[in-house]
Amino acid sequence: MRKTIIAPSILSADFKELENDVKKVLDAGANWIHCDVMDGIFVPNISFGAMIVEQIAPVVEEFNLKNKKNVLIDTHLMITEPIRYIEQFAKAKSDYITVHADACENIDATIKKIRELGKKVGVSVNPDKPISLFTDYLQKIDLVLIMSVFAGFGGQKFIVDTMQKVRDLVKIRNENNFNFLIEIDGGVNEETAKICLENGADVLVAGSYIFGKNKNYKELIEKIKL
Ligand code: DX5
Ligand code: ZN
Repeated sequence: MRKTIIAPSILSADFKELENDVKKVLDAGANWIHCDVMDGIFVPNISFGAMIVEQIAPVVEEFNLKNKKNVLIDTHLMITEPIRYIEQFAKAKSDYITVHADACENIDATIKKIRELGKKVGVSVNPDKPISLFTDYLQKIDLVLIMSVFAGFGGQKFIVDTMQKVRDLVKIRNENNFNFLIEIDGGVNEETAKICLENGADVLVAGSYIFGKNKNYKELIEKIKL
């Protein structure tokens, strides 16, 4: 059985201490570092751009070298027409670049562009958008990110109905021998992590749950890495 991949979202980190927070979650066993990029248009919030990814990339690289690990940078673009910025995020050393299907004018071209730059391709949808927006491309996708809250803010409540999409994706993947990973983003905590994993998720993003008041990152990560 595949072990769950845990991707702490730095959106909830302390930005005065970003480097330190990243180091701490790496030491605590994070598998990926999730970077939430928001443009204030596709979602009603603005977060950060490629500069922040550039800043954390050497921290991750150093950790990997020192510990013989392969922690990856998982960039989640919540921006309109992401194709315009894919090169920037690739240069900033993202390993996975995820776009929202409905934010792209041409999803096929966007997938191709990420692939051409040698990066892993992720496609996402908000809770009110169907996976049919990208099911034709599943063969070319490495990661499907199912939003379990509406993209835009950390700390929202998990929407359990979104798990139907996970079940549908698992079925499609089995029937067609596809290889994409299924990632859940939003409202993940001790309780909801179980629900995600029971339904077949491979990757769990967690922001406020990990970077909350309890600073025992290792214990928090272990509790959701079932
Ligand atoms: C929401 C972001 C999430 C967010 C998750 O738009 O895509 O990655 O940081 O935060 P929590 O885990 O607090 O719901
Ligand atoms: Zn995210």
